[in-house]
Amino acid sequence: MKRIGLLLFVFSFICFFGVAGASAKEDSKESLGEQLFMKHCSKCHPNGGNVITVTKTLNPKDREANEIKTEEDVIKLMRNPGPGMVKFGKDVISEKDAKAIAAYIFKTFK
Ligand code: HEC
Repeated sequence: MKRIGLLLFVFSFICFFGVAGASAKEDSKESLGEQLFMKHCSKCHPNGGNVITVTKTLNPKDREANEIKTEEDVIKLMRNPGPGMVKFGKDVISEKDAKAIAAYIFKTFK
């Protein structure tokens, strides 16, 4: 009986670190998008808002009303933005970074 207790203890230990390790990985992916968003976008879109065109925030309600429904749409818009927004070419934000930013927006602003 003692042995089973020990085994359970060891097992839960492994589970705990397994889960902690996985979520640390998730965090680092998220923080790339977050860092890039803070660097390139947050000036005009603080907390997902829009300081220039107040009706065009990054919240799903506004986004979807303006046909920005997928992460791909966000990337397209960065490459070819509307009036008042700066254009972000691949030389400034790579495809990989653009994806991280788009994912961050979808995850964060709800
Ligand atoms: C210089 C200010 C500025 C910066 C920097 C900026 N934006 Fe914008 N953004 C705007 C403006 C202004 C609009 C509205 C454009 C329009 O009228 O179509 C907009 C619109 C958007 C929209 C559409 C929102 C909607 O509801 O239709 C998305 C998505 C978006 N921006 C994403 C980004 C991302 C991602 C970045 C960073 C890579 C960024 N923006 C950086 C000013 C900015």
